[in-house]
Amino acid sequence: MLAADGLRVRIGSTNILESVTMKLHRGDFVALSGVNGSGKSTLLRFLAGAGKGGRSPKPDAGRVLLNGTSVYEDLSHRQRRQLLRDVVAFLPQKAKENMLPRETFKYNMLLPFIIAKKAISATRIDELVDAYGVGRLISKPVGSLSGGEQQLVALMGLELVPEKQLFLLDEPFAALDSERSDMVSERLKRLAEAGGLVVMISHRDDEPLATRKIVLQRGSIVSDSVGPGFHSRIDL
Ligand SMILES: Nc1ncnc2c1ncn2[C@@H]1O[C@H](COP(=O)(O)OP(=O)(O)OP(=O)(O)O)[C@@H](O)[C@H]1O
Ligand SMILES: [Mg+2]
Repeated sequence: MLAADGLRVRIGSTNILESVTMKLHRGDFVALSGVNGSGKSTLLRFLAGAGKGGRSPKPDAGRVLLNGTSVYEDLSHRQRRQLLRDVVAFLPQKAKENMLPRETFKYNMLLPFIIAKKAISATRIDELVDAYGVGRLISKPVGSLSGGEQQLVALMGLELVPEKQLFLLDEPFAALDSERSDMVSERLKRLAEAGGLVVMISHRDDEPLATRKIVLQRGSIVSDSVGPGFHSRIDL
Protein backbone atom coordinates (compact mmCIF):
# COMPACT_ATOMS: atom_id res chain seq x y z
CA MET A 1 0.00 0.00 0.00
CA LEU A 2 2.73 2.47 1.02
CA ALA A 3 6.38 2.18 0.16
CA ALA A 4 9.60 4.14 0.29
CA ASP A 5 12.14 3.23 -2.33
CA GLY A 6 15.70 4.49 -1.90
CA LEU A 7 14.44 7.65 -0.23
CA ARG A 8 17.16 10.25 0.36
CA VAL A 9 16.53 13.64 1.88
CA ARG A 10 19.17 16.30 2.27
CA ILE A 11 18.75 19.46 4.29
CA GLY A 12 21.61 21.92 3.84
CA SER A 13 24.69 19.76 3.53
CA THR A 14 23.40 16.90 5.69
CA ASN A 15 21.67 13.74 4.59
CA ILE A 16 18.71 13.46 6.95
CA LEU A 17 17.41 10.28 5.29
CA GLU A 18 19.72 7.87 3.51
CA SER A 19 18.37 5.21 1.15
CA VAL A 20 15.26 4.37 3.15
CA THR A 21 13.46 1.43 1.59
CA MET A 22 10.42 -0.27 3.08
CA LYS A 23 7.07 -1.69 2.05
CA LEU A 24 4.10 -1.29 4.35
CA HIS A 25 0.81 -3.09 3.98
CA ARG A 26 -2.81 -2.75 5.03
CA GLY A 27 -3.23 -4.27 8.48
CA ASP A 28 0.27 -3.25 9.57
CA PHE A 29 0.52 -1.38 12.85
CA VAL A 30 4.03 -0.01 12.63
CA ALA A 31 6.00 1.52 15.49
CA LEU A 32 8.84 3.68 14.23
CA SER A 33 11.51 4.49 16.77
CA GLY A 34 15.01 5.88 17.06
CA VAL A 35 16.89 8.46 19.09
CA ASN A 36 16.16 12.20 18.83
CA GLY A 37 17.27 13.57 15.50
CA SER A 38 17.44 10.16 13.76
CA GLY A 39 15.04 11.31 11.01
CA LYS A 40 11.70 9.83 12.14
CA SER A 41 9.59 12.98 11.69
CA THR A 42 11.25 13.69 8.35
CA LEU A 43 10.44 10.20 7.13
CA LEU A 44 6.83 10.44 8.27
CA ARG A 45 6.38 13.82 6.57
CA PHE A 46 7.69 12.38 3.32
CA LEU A 47 5.43 9.35 3.60
CA ALA A 48 2.48 11.70 4.14
CA GLY A 49 3.23 13.69 1.00
CA ALA A 50 4.14 16.79 3.01
CA GLY A 51 7.85 16.49 2.18
CA LYS A 52 10.17 19.30 3.13
CA GLY A 53 7.36 21.81 2.82
CA GLY A 54 7.76 25.08 0.97
CA ARG A 55 8.72 25.22 -2.68
CA SER A 56 10.97 22.18 -2.85
CA PRO A 57 9.06 19.44 -1.06
CA LYS A 58 10.54 16.56 -3.07
CA PRO A 59 13.07 14.02 -1.90
CA ASP A 60 16.62 14.33 -3.24
CA ALA A 61 16.49 10.77 -4.48
CA GLY A 62 14.10 7.84 -4.40
CA ARG A 63 10.34 7.62 -4.31
CA VAL A 64 7.31 7.30 -2.08
CA LEU A 65 4.67 5.02 -3.57
CA LEU A 66 1.07 5.05 -2.42
CA ASN A 67 -1.03 2.34 -4.04
CA GLY A 68 1.34 2.39 -7.01
CA THR A 69 1.34 6.18 -7.46
CA SER A 70 4.67 7.92 -7.05
CA VAL A 71 3.63 10.71 -4.73
CA TYR A 72 6.36 13.23 -5.64
CA GLU A 73 6.65 12.34 -9.34
CA ASP A 74 3.11 11.65 -10.51
CA LEU A 75 1.20 14.20 -8.42
CA SER A 76 1.15 17.99 -8.53
CA HIS A 77 1.59 20.05 -5.39
CA ARG A 78 -2.16 20.53 -5.32
CA GLN A 79 -2.88 16.81 -5.68
CA ARG A 80 -0.50 16.07 -2.79
CA ARG A 81 -2.34 18.56 -0.61
CA GLN A 82 -5.58 16.87 -1.55
CA LEU A 83 -4.08 13.52 -0.59
CA LEU A 84 -3.25 14.94 2.82
CA ARG A 85 -6.78 16.20 3.19
CA ASP A 86 -8.73 13.24 1.87
CA VAL A 87 -6.68 10.07 2.20
CA VAL A 88 -3.97 10.47 4.80
CA ALA A 89 -4.63 11.11 8.45
CA PHE A 90 -1.42 12.87 9.41
CA LEU A 91 -0.58 13.95 12.93
CA PRO A 92 2.47 16.22 12.77
CA GLN A 93 4.79 16.38 15.80
CA LYS A 94 3.76 19.99 16.36
CA ALA A 95 0.02 19.54 15.74
CA LYS A 96 -0.86 21.79 18.67
CA GLU A 97 0.73 24.76 16.96
CA ASN A 98 -1.98 24.61 14.29
CA MET A 99 -4.81 24.97 16.80
CA LEU A 100 -6.78 28.13 17.50
CA PRO A 101 -6.31 28.67 21.25
CA ARG A 102 -9.43 30.78 21.80
CA GLU A 103 -11.73 28.34 20.03
CA THR A 104 -13.15 25.34 21.84
CA PHE A 105 -12.00 21.72 21.96
CA LYS A 106 -14.91 20.82 19.68
CA TYR A 107 -14.29 23.62 17.20
CA ASN A 108 -10.63 22.71 16.88
CA MET A 109 -11.42 19.01 16.59
CA LEU A 110 -13.79 19.81 13.72
CA LEU A 111 -11.50 22.38 12.10
CA PRO A 112 -10.65 20.25 9.03
CA PHE A 113 -14.38 19.84 8.37
CA ILE A 114 -15.07 23.52 8.94
CA ILE A 115 -12.30 24.51 6.51
CA ALA A 116 -13.45 21.98 3.91
CA LYS A 117 -17.10 22.94 4.50
CA LYS A 118 -17.89 19.25 4.93
CA ALA A 119 -20.73 17.85 6.98
CA ILE A 120 -20.10 15.48 9.86
CA SER A 121 -22.52 13.25 11.66
CA ALA A 122 -23.38 14.44 15.17
CA THR A 123 -23.73 10.81 16.28
CA ARG A 124 -20.16 10.09 15.25
CA ILE A 125 -18.92 13.07 17.26
CA ASP A 126 -20.90 11.96 20.31
CA GLU A 127 -19.59 8.40 20.06
CA LEU A 128 -16.02 9.59 19.92
CA VAL A 129 -16.47 12.07 22.78
CA ASP A 130 -17.92 9.21 24.85
CA ALA A 131 -15.16 6.78 23.93
CA TYR A 132 -12.46 9.24 24.91
CA GLY A 133 -14.36 10.40 28.00
CA VAL A 134 -13.88 14.10 27.24
CA GLY A 135 -17.48 15.33 27.58
CA ARG A 136 -16.54 17.92 30.22
CA LEU A 137 -13.81 19.37 28.00
CA ILE A 138 -15.43 19.91 24.63
CA SER A 139 -16.75 23.41 25.32
CA LYS A 140 -13.51 24.71 26.81
CA PRO A 141 -11.11 26.91 24.84
CA VAL A 142 -8.18 24.85 23.61
CA GLY A 143 -5.74 27.38 25.08
CA SER A 144 -7.00 26.49 28.57
CA LEU A 145 -6.46 22.74 28.17
CA SER A 146 -3.51 20.71 29.38
CA GLY A 147 -0.92 19.40 26.91
CA GLY A 148 -2.40 15.90 26.98
CA GLU A 149 -5.93 17.21 26.52
CA GLN A 150 -4.79 19.19 23.48
CA GLN A 151 -3.19 16.05 22.10
CA LEU A 152 -6.61 14.37 22.32
CA VAL A 153 -8.13 17.18 20.22
CA ALA A 154 -5.70 16.36 17.42
CA LEU A 155 -6.12 12.58 17.68
CA MET A 156 -9.91 12.70 17.77
CA GLY A 157 -9.98 15.06 14.79
CA LEU A 158 -8.10 12.45 12.77
CA GLU A 159 -10.37 9.63 13.81
CA LEU A 160 -13.47 11.51 12.73
CA VAL A 161 -12.79 11.12 9.04
CA PRO A 162 -14.27 7.73 8.25
CA GLU A 163 -12.82 7.27 4.77
CA LYS A 164 -9.22 7.68 5.86
CA GLN A 165 -7.23 4.47 5.94
CA LEU A 166 -3.67 5.65 6.16
CA PHE A 167 -2.72 6.93 9.59
CA LEU A 168 0.68 8.56 10.01
CA LEU A 169 1.12 9.75 13.56
CA ASP A 170 4.12 11.56 14.96
CA GLU A 171 4.32 10.71 18.66
CA PRO A 172 0.58 10.26 19.27
CA PHE A 173 1.25 9.43 22.94
CA ALA A 174 3.22 12.61 23.62
CA ALA A 175 1.84 14.19 26.81
CA LEU A 176 -0.68 11.36 27.34
CA ASP A 177 -0.75 9.38 30.60
CA SER A 178 -0.16 5.64 30.38
CA GLU A 179 -3.84 4.73 30.57
CA ARG A 180 -4.78 7.08 27.73
CA SER A 181 -1.76 5.97 25.72
CA ASP A 182 -2.88 2.35 25.99
CA MET A 183 -6.40 3.31 24.99
CA VAL A 184 -5.22 5.22 21.93
CA SER A 185 -2.94 2.32 21.06
CA GLU A 186 -5.92 -0.07 21.22
CA ARG A 187 -7.90 2.20 18.90
CA LEU A 188 -5.05 2.43 16.42
CA LYS A 189 -4.69 -1.33 16.48
CA ARG A 190 -8.38 -1.65 15.58
CA LEU A 191 -8.00 0.79 12.69
CA ALA A 192 -5.20 -1.40 11.32
CA GLU A 193 -7.22 -4.57 11.84
CA ALA A 194 -10.10 -3.01 9.91
CA GLY A 195 -7.82 -2.81 6.85
CA GLY A 196 -6.02 0.46 7.53
CA LEU A 197 -2.33 1.10 7.78
CA VAL A 198 -1.02 2.78 10.90
CA VAL A 199 2.51 4.10 11.22
CA MET A 200 3.32 5.83 14.46
CA ILE A 201 6.46 7.25 15.94
CA SER A 202 6.88 6.12 19.49
CA HIS A 203 9.50 6.49 22.16
CA ARG A 204 7.93 3.76 24.28
CA ASP A 205 10.30 0.79 24.43
CA ASP A 206 7.47 -1.66 24.56
CA GLU A 207 4.69 -1.34 21.97
CA PRO A 208 2.87 -4.61 22.66
CA LEU A 209 0.17 -4.06 20.04
CA ALA A 210 2.44 -3.11 17.16
CA THR A 211 2.80 -5.74 14.44
CA ARG A 212 6.01 -4.34 13.07
CA LYS A 213 8.87 -2.34 14.52
CA ILE A 214 11.24 -0.21 12.47
CA VAL A 215 14.23 1.54 13.99
CA LEU A 216 15.98 4.49 12.38
CA GLN A 217 19.52 5.52 13.13
CA ARG A 218 21.10 8.55 11.50
CA GLY A 219 18.56 8.46 8.68
CA SER A 220 18.82 4.76 7.86
CA ILE A 221 16.75 1.76 8.85
CA VAL A 222 18.85 -0.37 11.18
CA SER A 223 16.15 -2.82 12.22
CA ASP A 224 12.84 -3.91 10.71
CA SER A 225 11.04 -6.71 12.47
CA VAL A 226 7.60 -8.26 12.47
CA GLY A 227 5.64 -9.78 15.35
CA PRO A 228 4.95 -12.00 17.12
CA GLY A 229 8.35 -12.10 18.77
CA PHE A 230 9.60 -9.46 16.33
CA HIS A 231 12.04 -11.43 14.24
CA SER A 232 14.31 -9.27 12.17
CA ARG A 233 13.37 -8.91 8.51
CA ILE A 234 16.81 -7.75 7.50
CA ASP A 235 20.29 -8.97 8.27
CA LEU A 236 22.43 -6.31 9.83
N1 LIG B 1 14.00 22.17 8.51
C1 LIG B 1 15.15 21.68 8.96
N2 LIG B 1 16.30 22.40 8.87
C2 LIG B 1 17.47 21.93 9.31
N3 LIG B 1 17.61 20.72 9.88
C3 LIG B 1 16.52 19.97 10.00
C4 LIG B 1 15.22 20.40 9.57
N4 LIG B 1 14.33 19.43 9.82
C5 LIG B 1 15.03 18.46 10.40
N5 LIG B 1 16.33 18.77 10.51
C6 LIG B 1 17.39 17.94 11.10
O1 LIG B 1 17.19 16.61 10.65
C7 LIG B 1 17.46 15.69 11.68
C8 LIG B 1 16.27 14.75 11.83
O2 LIG B 1 15.15 15.49 12.30
P1 LIG B 1 13.76 14.80 12.62
O3 LIG B 1 12.85 15.87 13.08
O4 LIG B 1 13.36 14.00 11.45
O5 LIG B 1 14.21 13.84 13.82
P2 LIG B 1 13.34 12.91 14.80
O6 LIG B 1 13.92 11.54 14.70
O7 LIG B 1 11.91 13.07 14.52
O8 LIG B 1 13.71 13.51 16.23
P3 LIG B 1 12.80 13.67 17.58
O9 LIG B 1 12.76 12.33 18.25
O10 LIG B 1 13.58 14.66 18.39
O11 LIG B 1 11.45 14.19 17.19
C9 LIG B 1 17.79 16.49 12.93
O12 LIG B 1 19.18 16.51 13.11
C10 LIG B 1 17.26 17.87 12.60
O13 LIG B 1 18.03 18.85 13.22
MG1 LIG C 1 10.36 13.92 15.58
